[in-house]
Amino acid sequence: MFELKEYLSGKGRLVDAWLREYFESSPVKPRLFKEAMEYSINAGGKRLRPVLALASFEASGGKNSQAMLRYACALELIHTYSLIHDDLPAMDDDDLRRGKPTNHKVYGEGMAILAGDGLLTEAFHMLSVPDGGTRADVLLAVIRDVARRAGLYGMVAGQAQDILCDQGHQAGASGDGPLPSGTEMIEFIHMHKTAQLITASVRMGGMLAGVAPAGLDALTAYGEAVGLAFQVADDILDVKGETALMGKTAGSDERKSKLTYPAVYGIERAEQKARGLVEKAVSSLDGFFGPGAEPLRAIARYIIERKS
Ligand code: IPE
Ligand code: IPE
Ligand code: MG
Ligand code: MG
Ligand code: MG
Repeated sequence: MFELKEYLSGKGRLVDAWLREYFESSPVKPRLFKEAMEYSINAGGKRLRPVLALASFEASGGKNSQAMLRYACALELIHTYSLIHDDLPAMDDDDLRRGKPTNHKVYGEGMAILAGDGLLTEAFHMLSVPDGGTRADVLLAVIRDVARRAGLYGMVAGQAQDILCDQGHQAGASGDGPLPSGTEMIEFIHMHKTAQLITASVRMGGMLAGVAPAGLDALTAYGEAVGLAFQVADDILDVKGETALMGKTAGSDERKSKLTYPAVYGIERAEQKARGLVEKAVSSLDGFFGPGAEPLRAIARYIIERKS
């Protein structure tokens, strides 16, 4: 039987070790800038985005997993930068992340901003380094996909709408047309700030393994459903979860009157919504993926059961 716990910890350890070694051997100066990046990147975390990339690579029949590991780790740099910036006083103003004081609490706001900038830029450097086995045109398509989904058409746009809503600017998601309702707005925010980087991670594995177009469509549908479920679960954990287990402060969303699924729908309907999305994610894989996609199916179910 497939054991998800072992799968996640095994892949997580590979990612942890790769990242630690990469930064240790990088001759970055000044020392404190390097230390600030290492502080957050080596703090752990679930490593979900690289693990999803590896799982979808394997489900798609990918072989050269050593090169794949580097590309997968680039996603963790982008994710970690987003957390450092998300915690800043100008954004969510949080003090605890991955069980430790947030980056700006230790290194100051200026260095935290730059540590985030450094991680984001280095991610694209890592992605651009070719390896013998990967076709340059495929790598270029991956880089373009990650850039769009992490940036202007994904995560950064979602974060922008998130803080605009904090400030009471209920402006239209696209900037035109009538004001969207709370439910449309929250869907825009979550689909962008969280689901798009997760979708890029799942698509990366498929693209680098050379999956057929129908398979890539299935992975995209899976990624968007899992990504949205992931943020709904994050919102629910913010209400019901324990700070000690999560490594970040519970109740942070209510303190800032964030637009969250529990705030809009109530806890019960938010939980229902998350379960529905997981079903949708799992069934997206039917028809194209067989037993090789068992890790992807198990990860989808885990996303709404997790305590951290
Ligand atoms: C937290 O992401 C930010 C969201 C997009 C909800 P994770 O829950 O994946 O955080 P880590 O990487 O495990 O710390
Ligand atoms: C953040 O959402 C999503 C990011 C892109 C970082 P949250 O603000 O809810 O994430 P947490 O709860 O601080 O991890
Ligand atoms: Mg936030
Ligand atoms: Mg936050
Ligand atoms: Mg949250």
